[in-house]
Amino acid sequence: MCGIIGYVGRKKAAPLLLDGLKRLEYRGYDSAGIATVADGIQIKKDQGKIDEIDSKLDLADMKGTVGIGHARWATHGEPSQRNAHPHMDADRRIAVVHNGIIENYEELREFLKSEGYKFKSETDTEVIPHLINYFLERGNGLEKSVRLTARRLKGSYAIAIAFADDSNKLVVVREQSPLIIGIQNGGSFVASDIPAVLPHTNRVLILEDGEMGIVTLDDVQIKRVNDGKDIQKEPMEIDWTLEMAEKRGYPHFMLKEINEQATAIQNTLRVSEEELNRLAKALGESDRVYVVACGTSYHAALVGKYALAKLADFSAEVVISSEFQESCIPRKNDLVFAITQSGETADTLKAVRVAKEKGSRAACLTNVVGSSITRISDLVCFTHAGPEIGVAATKTFSSQVTYLLLLAHYMAKDRGYITSKGYREKVSQLKKIPASEKDFLERITPQIEKLAKKYRNLSECYFIGRGIGFPIALEGSLKLKEIAYVNSVAYPAGELKHGPLALVEEGTLLLALVTPGSARERMIGNIEEVKARGAEVVALAPEGLNEVGKHVEEIVSIPSSREIFSPLIYVLPLQLLAYCMGIERGYDPDKPRHLAKSVTVE
Ligand code: F6R
Repeated sequence: MCGIIGYVGRKKAAPLLLDGLKRLEYRGYDSAGIATVADGIQIKKDQGKIDEIDSKLDLADMKGTVGIGHARWATHGEPSQRNAHPHMDADRRIAVVHNGIIENYEELREFLKSEGYKFKSETDTEVIPHLINYFLERGNGLEKSVRLTARRLKGSYAIAIAFADDSNKLVVVREQSPLIIGIQNGGSFVASDIPAVLPHTNRVLILEDGEMGIVTLDDVQIKRVNDGKDIQKEPMEIDWTLEMAEKRGYPHFMLKEINEQATAIQNTLRVSEEELNRLAKALGESDRVYVVACGTSYHAALVGKYALAKLADFSAEVVISSEFQESCIPRKNDLVFAITQSGETADTLKAVRVAKEKGSRAACLTNVVGSSITRISDLVCFTHAGPEIGVAATKTFSSQVTYLLLLAHYMAKDRGYITSKGYREKVSQLKKIPASEKDFLERITPQIEKLAKKYRNLSECYFIGRGIGFPIALEGSLKLKEIAYVNSVAYPAGELKHGPLALVEEGTLLLALVTPGSARERMIGNIEEVKARGAEVVALAPEGLNEVGKHVEEIVSIPSSREIFSPLIYVLPLQLLAYCMGIERGYDPDKPRHLAKSVTVE
């Protein structure tokens, strides 16, 4: 969702900004633009894809060694040239790019209009350059004018500002929207997220809420917005490499990341026992545990809930983050456990803040070091899946599931349900999964490609699963919706007879997840139930389960595993199916329409 890149250095800024914008495309956007400083401010911006805008406007051909760029995902005002960022003040002295939402923009707009300011766009962002201009006009310096402006803004924002009057400086401000400064000798970058600066540096300063950065050729200063006081900060070394954030021969990031799941799981499995112990203790000592998450992370959280209940006799309430404050009453001795790969999802951050205000403690599981969730949590855990660029979460899901499975086993040992020896055995079984995933993916790819061809004109379908298979049915259905735009719904198979069965008629397609374990027989019963009503069924079932084959159109055989580990394997054909269907139907799986990688608005 909206991306920011900025550069101050010795090199020509525009090509670097253009490259940075391309690296931010995965966040989702509908328009883009660049401003550079050279004899005043030049701006080129438009609606559309960055490559299209570049071929129309030649973005790289802009003078100057300082500049800012933005990929916009429309919130206030339709996607259009005039609403695209950067935005300027009327005197063309100040150019601003902004991520987030200014909640009080209408009030500020009215105030500025009454002072004679004229607006060119419908965006909330445009109040910012005018407000800075307003304070400059009243004799304040550049930095002070930015601070005074930031103090008037309500909402969430990451802002980067370039000035015609000081062609060697960028100023950035952060409030509840990620912003980093990539430090490099002879020039620095500012960006909304790390992959945009990885080609140049992996030394980054992470801005916190209420902080501003003043970035010049040789220096970076961090100050408090409130009073302008200096803040001392050391850059962090990020262990992501450029290679990790590139396609490396795959046609799409999504396919690359589906194939990287084995490595992601291996990396997650390196979590220390101390970390697991701290988290297990925090869960165990709390009166109630609320696990909050959205989308795919919510599905991983549900797998965690089943695993904690089954293995460790431990009950956690899993809540969709945006519903948390409507439906839960967090209290002092409760724990809110946030699962978010990006660490920036506004709904999840809000749920944690709400719980903390009521005195609950907060823990998080995230993939991004330095992300916002890590700043507001008392206990921070990482999945270490490496950067995920495809908008659809794939490898981070497997890493989250792996972490939660480890945690459930650890708690089972702690609570006396398995011995230490039993725990070690289970962990070593889990460690064998990545190797089997690689072979499995290779084996099923031709079958899934054929299925995608066969069902390329599908308009709707249903996913059914039971027990730990149900969250995977939800995940398969979500992937198919977002990547192939197929209307699909997932049900616990036991729910069919309570309503959805009425929808089944001749030719209705159901994807049935027959996971190993106690629910298997009942799933076969459910398949018979829908077949009797004319449905077509594609079943994912354990290898050698021949009786399933008797009833269904197609069977994808899944290598045998413990029931509790099955989500890690069953999810692969479903991710691949969504990818292949997306391709068959002519869509770009890395850029699903209307969606963004990091959802930083509520
Ligand atoms: C789906 C997907 C989204 C995210 C959701 C939460 O493929 O990626 O549903 O899972 O927006 O994102 P995080 O985990 O960053 O909080």
